[in-house]
Amino acid sequence: MTVPAEITDTRFSLSQAEIPSAWFNVAPHLSSPLDPPLHPATREPVGPDDLAPLFAGELIGQEMSADPWIDIPGEVLDVLRLWRPTPLIRARRLEAALKTPARIYFKDESVSPAGSHKPNSAVPQAFYNAREGIKRLSTETGAGQWGTALSFACAQYDLECAVYMVRKSFEQKPYRKVIMETWGGSVVPSPIDDPSNAGSLGSAISDAVADAMGRDDTHYALGSVLNHVLLHQTVIGLEAQQQLALAGETRPDVVIAPCGGGSNLGGLALPFLPDPSVRLLAAEPASCPTLTQGTYEYDFGDVQGLTPMMNMYTLGHDFMPPGIHAGGLRYHGDSPIISKLVHEGRMEAVAHRQKAVFEANVLFARVEGKLPAPEAGHGIASAIAEANDATEKNEERVILFNYCGHGLLDLAAYQDYLAGDLGEEP
Ligand SMILES: Cc1ncc(COP(=O)(O)O)c(C=O)c1O
Repeated sequence: MTVPAEITDTRFSLSQAEIPSAWFNVAPHLSSPLDPPLHPATREPVGPDDLAPLFAGELIGQEMSADPWIDIPGEVLDVLRLWRPTPLIRARRLEAALKTPARIYFKDESVSPAGSHKPNSAVPQAFYNAREGIKRLSTETGAGQWGTALSFACAQYDLECAVYMVRKSFEQKPYRKVIMETWGGSVVPSPIDDPSNAGSLGSAISDAVADAMGRDDTHYALGSVLNHVLLHQTVIGLEAQQQLALAGETRPDVVIAPCGGGSNLGGLALPFLPDPSVRLLAAEPASCPTLTQGTYEYDFGDVQGLTPMMNMYTLGHDFMPPGIHAGGLRYHGDSPIISKLVHEGRMEAVAHRQKAVFEANVLFARVEGKLPAPEAGHGIASAIAEANDATEKNEERVILFNYCGHGLLDLAAYQDYLAGDLGEEP
């Protein structure tokens, strides 16, 4: 039974028994089926057999599934229970600082072992691969959050984990490597064949896919973009729906999340899609403005053109974004699901400059106490803009955003910002 919250509550928690037992599949809720991925060589639609060298059969099934709900295996729930359900927090001190009539809530995904939302998909991906007899996973990582999450997940099911980390982030965030190695992963900077290249998610994907294609015992794991990754992340939005009810809210007016490849955004926002009165908002970096300035067309997911082509917003698969601190948002493309929703006008998108993101992060840290990942700051900057707009219009807007990761391993970025050394991206 839900008991309405006291007026001063700031934390809305679910019991461990209330963790969602099925993922929400958005496919039946889209206006039309997604355009199929195309084979990189033949440009014909890819089928399950084309994907089998890279992905577990169960994940390929989920990628193409039209079932409205997909059960979460018990072995996956056992691991998710280490930190889920995550809290929903009402940011009352941020509201007070902004002097806004808006009510601001955030879902705190930073409480996971890896410090972000990424383990929500890393755990099921590792599980399904291990169950199929795969011994090793290869992957890319931008900021290091996904590689960290997959290293943790592989440790749960006795898999080896090979991580190709975007060189710029590898140099900016040395302690990420230590965490990955502590969980048993191995990490190399990417692109592996060009030490002078800062790299991007697109180039690291090429290295990771080439690794998996070269070995029978290895599959590839992608931390974002694909339908099954967004599916796994929907535990975030499903929990948030229950928690908003605990807080006495009928629904949010706007759901906001940072967007690199779309996984934390999809995870929070997609369960709200069926309600047309809920606005959905993607927040991206101005220096890698895929949704706000890219074109909607078929493109490769990686620099070398090894992956299937997907219909999505893209800046071009050879686009090399500037080395901003939000490494997880430096991706030329985007999830086909998110791209379709933006293309059809169901989801809005906004771009923020790096300095504005850090201003938002520092304000948030000072009033709410939490030190956000640079990626997370894009959502915070948007939430603040929404709250200020609500103030101007004197509206009691209910704002929900995803606090998708902490920044405790991103202190070099804060050091630069506090020293006035952040520079401004072009
Ligand atoms: C903390 C954090 N937030 C957001 C992202 C962006 O990815 P996605 O758009 O898939 O959530 C990343 C990617 O590494 C990340 O580490």
